[in-house]
Amino acid sequence: MVLKIGAIGCSDVAKRQFFPAINSSQLANVEYIGSRSLKKAEEWAKKYGCSKFGTYDDVIDSNIDAVYISLPIGLHEEWTLKAAKAGKHVLCEKSSTTSYESAKKMVKTGKENNIRILEGFAFRFHPQHKQIRELICREIGELHNFYGIYGFPLPLEDNIRWKKELGGGVLNDVSCYPIYASRLVFQSEPISVLSHLEFDKKFDVDKSADVILKYPNEKTAFVSSGFNNYYQSKYSVWGSKARISTKRAYAVPRDYKTSVYLDKNDKISETIIPPVDQFAIMFDIFCNVITNNIKNPYDFENDLLEQAKLMESIRISSHEKRLVPLSEIK
Ligand SMILES: NC(=O)c1ccc[n+]([C@@H]2O[C@H](COP(=O)([O-])OP(=O)(O)OC[C@H]3O[C@@H](n4cnc5c(N)ncnc54)[C@H](OP(=O)(O)O)[C@@H]3O)[C@@H](O)[C@H]2O)c1
Repeated sequence: MVLKIGAIGCSDVAKRQFFPAINSSQLANVEYIGSRSLKKAEEWAKKYGCSKFGTYDDVIDSNIDAVYISLPIGLHEEWTLKAAKAGKHVLCEKSSTTSYESAKKMVKTGKENNIRILEGFAFRFHPQHKQIRELICREIGELHNFYGIYGFPLPLEDNIRWKKELGGGVLNDVSCYPIYASRLVFQSEPISVLSHLEFDKKFDVDKSADVILKYPNEKTAFVSSGFNNYYQSKYSVWGSKARISTKRAYAVPRDYKTSVYLDKNDKISETIIPPVDQFAIMFDIFCNVITNNIKNPYDFENDLLEQAKLMESIRISSHEKRLVPLSEIK
């Protein structure tokens, strides 16, 4: 079965990731393209060989099987709910939404309508993380700490990342990656968090975030991210016998050869990971799960909820200047 996919929003990430991935996939075709501007929708439809275009509602009301939503984060809930109620599966860009309450609503509505929702953390599908997990098992001894950093130079002033009403800010857009990576590396959920979000005076959105996440068994993750930084997209893990680090962890271009480094016994060895299209891998897994071709590789919706709960605890910790136990977030 070849799935019919609708794209909601003609975004930068859709252009760079979604369209190349779907065009090379055997599992799906672009059936409908939706934009706030009919002219833009038509141009994109022409460019990507899609005969149908219109508004976001037109996409939802069509005979598609699933939607790819790449809108500003503050609009994800609205369009996920609309898609779910129309019986369309949802691949929603990260961060899924702006609050835990909103995430719960998305997942509940998805379940009521028997559709799947995947939060689009494409990076998790890159094979380097499997390689790192294997190295952790073999080489690291007792695993103690995770250090994740992600940041880049200032976005332009009209960028969605500066818009408070659209769910802008560094936590939702950038810090979510190393936070997610720490969950992936530790294969568990944190017990408590302590965070500080620095807000931009002009735009009133968080522009840098420093987070400490306490995990079970005395493991700790340290996450730093910010706009206005020299580009870095990395993490490392540190244990009793070695340290393992990435060259590039989150935004990995499809033609980029990345590396994993093992620092042990005063020697650094490099494992080169050949280029892959991590978004295309995620996209095909999403398609295969909704057509039941493969069993769930993990519980998409529970994963989305756990991440949203953690993001909520980070907001509360910074706002109330205190350590927040995850058990507090209901
Ligand atoms: N850029 C990346 O590298 C990247 C990577 C991974 C994930 N993401 C995620 O993907 C989502 C989109 O990010 P992006 O960087 O691709 O954003 P973007 O280029 O600004 O695209 C967002 C799209 O949302 C639509 N939109 C609806 N209401 C809007 C409003 N009031 N203001 C601006 N745009 C509005 C627009 O599409 P129409 O004009 O067609 O309606 C716009 O093109 C975010 O959740 C982001 O975190 C981005």
